[in-house]
Formats: sequence, C-alpha cells, structure tokens
Amino acid sequence: MFHLIPVKIAERMDYLRALDRGELPEKPPPPGRLWQVPPETGKFLALMAAAAPAGRCIEIGSSGGYSGLWLSLAMRERGDVLTTFEIDSGRAALARATYEKAEVAGLIRLEFGDAMELIGGADGIAFVFLDGSKEDYPAFFDKLAPKMTPGGILCADNAISHADEMPPFFATIEAHPDFDSVVVPVGQGVLLARKSL
Ligand SMILES: C[S@@+](CC[C@H](N)C(=O)[O-])C[C@H]1O[C@@H](n2cnc3c(N)ncnc32)[C@H](O)[C@@H]1O
Repeated sequence: MFHLIPVKIAERMDYLRALDRGELPEKPPPPGRLWQVPPETGKFLALMAAAAPAGRCIEIGSSGGYSGLWLSLAMRERGDVLTTFEIDSGRAALARATYEKAEVAGLIRLEFGDAMELIGGADGIAFVFLDGSKEDYPAFFDKLAPKMTPGGILCADNAISHADEMPPFFATIEAHPDFDSVVVPVGQGVLLARKSL
C-alpha cells in the first residue's frame, strides 16, 4: 500500500499538511485548524483497515480529508468504499475537494452532518476510525458496538493526547464483554479495539 502511493494522493497529503501548518496563502476553514492525524497514524489506520474483516468501513470526523486519503489506500486493496462523516460545512467542502483532487472520489463517500444521526441502522461494520469530539466517544461506541461485525476493528484517535477525556470511553470499552482493546502509542495515541468472533 505504501510503496506505490499514487502521485495525486501524495501531492494532496503534502498540501493538507502545509495548509494545516499555515504555510500557504489560503487558510483552513474557520477556526483555522484541521487537527489531522500525523503520517504514522495514517499508516497505522490503513494497515488496520486493510486487515479488518469483510464489511462496511466508516470514519467519523473527515476534517479536510487527510486521514481519508490514507484509508483510501486500504479501500483500494479491499475493493470497498469508505463512508466518512463531517459535521462542519467548511471542512466537508475541503474534504470533498481533497477526494476529487486526489482522484479517490470513487473510494470515499462523504456524508455531511452529525454522524450520531447519520450512521443509520445498517449492521456489518468491519472498520471504524473514530475521530470526532472526544466527549462523544462513549456514545459513539455504544451506538457502533452492536452494529460491528465479529472481528471488526475500531480505532479511536487522541487516546494519549486527550488522556483527561478518555476515562469514560476506556471504561465503556473495557466493560464490554465482546471487545478487547489496547492503547497503541502511535501519533497522538490510538485506542485499538476488536470485537470478538
Ligand atoms: C480531529 S478532526 C478529524 C481529523 C481527520 N480525521 C484527519 O485526520 O484528517 C475532527 C473532525 O470531526 C468533526 N466532527 C466532530 N463531531 C462530529 C460528528 N458528531 N459528526 C461528524 N463529524 C464530527 C469535526 O468537525 C472535525 O472536523
């Protein structure tokens, strides 16, 4: 996946990193930050998504589309489409531009709005990247856990950087008998959880 990253994807990754560092004439949509994952977390997510069982793949919190670009590499391998949710209109527009310019629009479908309402009733979720508001993580887990397929993988970002906000989320996952989890010290810290077979 990482040996032959298409040029258009690599160029857009570079652009989004420069945009978020404030190095370009144009700026990210208000309030001016994208809060995107670092490259090593992007690689970790792509590896986890590629290794997840068959089923739906979703991302909560698209921002400008940077993590989605990494996940698109796994979608290409899986022959799947990532559904990503973004509640902010400016960032949703930037993410859509990202998917067009990186030529991955066929691998990622963005839904604009609150993921809590948009996730819907369908089961069979095989991979989740949870990267929305940290205080919503426990509620998202409660909503997603019954919809996840056996062997399904959930990755939640900021498990270390936002340690103060994590105890309710960690407690919810650890109390669930069908999930095993561990915090992986990659990037800002990723909580990795797997649903039992
Ligand atoms: C940390 S950023 C995501 C960064 C992105 N995953 C990346 O690495 O490129 C979090 C994003 O989640 C969005 N968000 C927060 N709560 C949400 C919700 N309930 N539904 C959809 N998006 C949400 C925010 O607007 C913000 O753009």
